[in-house]
Amino acid sequence: MIQDKKVLFSGMQATGNLTLGNYLGALKNWVTLSDEYECFYSVVDMHSITVRQDPATLRKRARALLILYIAAGLDPEKNCIYYQSHVSGHAELAWILNCFTYMGELNRMTQFKDKAARHADNINAGLFTYPVLMAADILLYQADVVPVGVDQKQHLEITRDIAERFNNLYGPVFTIPEPYIGKVGAKIMSLQDPEKKMSKSDENPNASIYLMDDPDTIMRKCKRAVTDSESAVLYRDEQPGVKNLINIYSACTGHTPEEVVKEFDGKGYGDFKMAVGESVISVLRPLQEEAARLERDKAYIDGVIRANAEKAGYYANKTLRKVQKKVGFPERVR
Ligand code: TRP
Repeated sequence: MIQDKKVLFSGMQATGNLTLGNYLGALKNWVTLSDEYECFYSVVDMHSITVRQDPATLRKRARALLILYIAAGLDPEKNCIYYQSHVSGHAELAWILNCFTYMGELNRMTQFKDKAARHADNINAGLFTYPVLMAADILLYQADVVPVGVDQKQHLEITRDIAERFNNLYGPVFTIPEPYIGKVGAKIMSLQDPEKKMSKSDENPNASIYLMDDPDTIMRKCKRAVTDSESAVLYRDEQPGVKNLINIYSACTGHTPEEVVKEFDGKGYGDFKMAVGESVISVLRPLQEEAARLERDKAYIDGVIRANAEKAGYYANKTLRKVQKKVGFPERVR
């Protein structure tokens, strides 16, 4: 669409504090992918309000997330980094796609069932049609690939179904997106319950390392991480806590798990946890410093926000106009 490069779309919500898992599992890979693809990375604030938010907090977090994308190494000149709510095409396409999505399909979404159970007092229509907005995000930019975690795979499948349904009716309008399941996308688990994913919504603050944690906090959380009584740094499923720490260390240092096992042969968990803590600190400190620096450069960030919203809007409108025409909306007279 844009050049000879394939198009990639992904987004993150600015709800909760991002964790090391979000960084190592997603954001870090986005940076790697940004050379190969024409990338759109959105801060999906419209998805966030499917759950009640404090407005000031949402606004603050959305900006912090956008800054974090850049601090992590995404060049905003090459990657389109923008707020979903700044491009009205998302809402407009979502409406149209709502009319091509069945209640039955949405009823099968496991995330809806989970969230409806967790927010029983606010099962709003937006929560139900959340996957349709996500489909609009992706299809608006004719994305070829979408890097997502396993928890979002079902949403990508419904996106493909909606796109195929539309194309079957009206001709080839949408590119059918493929999921991009990263080769290296380290899945980081909770430090307190290594059978669970590290989550920004965990109630136990020791379970997750937050991207903005200071060095002492990071070290303390690593030292308190749940391990086992084997007293050997081995990479195996029987030692999920240790395995997770190896994955973290491996992702932070670039050493393979096998190398890590060799490095800590004969050493105790105390030494190992300390090294893990240090490796995390050495990754997060520059990220935090860069985020703080960008935070202070208000004019620069505002410029990025403006320019990229415009760029996103341009591509979004191209698709939107085509779709509007296909479904029979009257043409705009200039
Ligand atoms: N629903 C995704 C999540 O919570 C975020 C998201 C919204 C997204 N739109 C997207 C991810 C489009 C990939 C592509 O993780």
